[in-house]
Amino acid sequence: MTLAATGSLVGPAAAERRAVAAFNIITLEHAEAVIAGAEEAGAPVILQVSENAVKYRHGRVLPLARAAAAAAEAAGVPVALHLDHVKSPDLLRQAAAAGFSSVMFDAAHLPYVENLSATRAAADWAHANGLWIEAELGEVGGKDGAAPLDAHAPGARTDPEEARRFVAASGVDALAVAIGSTHAMTTRTGRLDHDLLARLAAAVDVPLVLHGSSGLPDGELAAAVAGGITKVNIGTALNVAMTDAIRAYLDAHPSAADTRTYLSVGRAAMARTATALITALGAEVPLPEAVRA
Ligand code: G3H
Ligand code: ZN
Repeated sequence: MTLAATGSLVGPAAAERRAVAAFNIITLEHAEAVIAGAEEAGAPVILQVSENAVKYRHGRVLPLARAAAAAAEAAGVPVALHLDHVKSPDLLRQAAAAGFSSVMFDAAHLPYVENLSATRAAADWAHANGLWIEAELGEVGGKDGAAPLDAHAPGARTDPEEARRFVAASGVDALAVAIGSTHAMTTRTGRLDHDLLARLAAAVDVPLVLHGSSGLPDGELAAAVAGGITKVNIGTALNVAMTDAIRAYLDAHPSAADTRTYLSVGRAAMARTATALITALGAEVPLPEAVRA
């Protein structure tokens, strides 16, 4: 199967009130596992490479991007490549040539006016280069001098009217919003603000993106999709699955030396996690009160 474009997966999903899972990959094993998990679930999927993952690869984007593209081209389900949490204008400008069809430009740590101006410039560049672009609006800093909060920072909440204005003025194709999820949680104990999600979905006319989804239980994920989330970003859950599986394997096989023995165990664990999470996104849930009203 050829590589899919992120917009071609997210657009129809938004129209049908479904969600597409977007998994952050760090190694080739992550990419292979996510694709195997999506094939098992029979669903399209997005492979994401974050700026931090590029830093881990000594600042080089191509080795992982090309490996992911090759794995995606051999997949039995549509797979898109997305460059995630990009702050560096230099990395942004490598996105198209590296094979990504979309990018998330991350300026939510900046004051509103600077976030808007940087995002507007990024969106203009992205569209001129055929890329779908997601941006993020967390909690805008208060008049008392409080700093802005990223969408996935603890306690951050996106204001629906600010979100509507931000999308209209920036021209982005999707918006990551702050509704209660927190990045890098290793327990699935998070809770979302479903009333706020309903107000955001009513105010914003582009697909909404949930970040920090590893910390949410299945019911919260399904309710988020029912409430209007279209792209669900998941990273830490894969790393927890891989690390736990490898730790257990090495505890049981202390003399193991062939890296394939334990990496294959870690890859299989990530594939099971990906299947389970994709399945959770499609589960039927009663609509939240605010959506039914
Ligand atoms: O952009 C990536 C996601 O926000 C991943 O968050 O590692 O908490 O699942 P997570
Ligand atoms: Zn994120």
